[in-house]
Amino acid sequence: MSGKRTALITGAGGGIGAATARELARRGVDVWITYSGDEDGARRTAGECAAQGVRTALSRLDLRSTEDVRRLMARVGDEWGALHVLVNNAGVCPYTAWPDIEPDEWDAVMEVNARGTFFLTKEAIPLLRAAGGDRAVVNVASLAGQVGGISTSVHYAASKAAVLAMTRSFARLLAAEGIRVNAVSPGPVSTQMTGALDPGVRDGLAASVPLGRLGRPEDVAHAICLLASPETAFTTGATFDVNGGLRTG
Ligand SMILES: NC(=O)c1ccc[n+]([C@@H]2O[C@H](COP(=O)([O-])OP(=O)(O)OC[C@H]3O[C@@H](n4cnc5c(N)ncnc54)[C@H](O)[C@@H]3O)[C@@H](O)[C@H]2O)c1
Repeated sequence: MSGKRTALITGAGGGIGAATARELARRGVDVWITYSGDEDGARRTAGECAAQGVRTALSRLDLRSTEDVRRLMARVGDEWGALHVLVNNAGVCPYTAWPDIEPDEWDAVMEVNARGTFFLTKEAIPLLRAAGGDRAVVNVASLAGQVGGISTSVHYAASKAAVLAMTRSFARLLAAEGIRVNAVSPGPVSTQMTGALDPGVRDGLAASVPLGRLGRPEDVAHAICLLASPETAFTTGATFDVNGGLRTG
């Protein structure tokens, strides 16, 4: 392992994950990025990170498969030996009206957003232990998990509430080892995810934000990088709202 900080970011083919990988690389952190369906975007992100002069690796990962998760972490262990930062960014958000949610879709959302986040974190912990010094897990939750989803769906909101509860649980469980676990909680951000909304709904969302616009992926990436950095070495179990001033209470 080199003396530099190392980070793994899931779902970095575009949106918030890609912006986070680029920003971590700009700060000199080695980045291991994962993608699921968006290989071209992930290769582009990896190229942009490598251009910053940091070690960059790329893996396909389907969070629904615990085998995939275990294989990935074994590879990271073999090649890098340790991880200082894990960014649990990947997630799915079907915009299904609550009366139309069927059990399979409920399970599919929980499988990626909640179960996937748990098992990736579980498998990453030995590598975080191996890194020593300041180590950080940053989970990407959502305003919907704090206040309930209106433009987003009930299963999505429930899965992100689970992410927030996991954040606090792992923060308590790992604090004695110096591993910090925090969450960012974005409001509506301009990515492929909100791109799936009807333009009228998207404009309405932007108009509802006190700061008067949708978030940019970089707005969230900066908050993630701060929580991933030793500058926040005394912060764990926290939720950092990145929502343009929308109420969370
Ligand atoms: N865009 C928003 O308004 C918004 C608001 C709040 C929270 N978030 C959260 O931010 C995170 C990033 O979303 P985004 O807005 O950049 O959208 P996005 O759709 O660009 O990113 C989601 C990523 O998750 C990956 N992914 C999906 N299913 C996966 C699976 N089974 N295994 C592995 N990876 C998988 C996708 O490939 C994609 O890279 C998500 O967790 C999302 O819930 C987004």
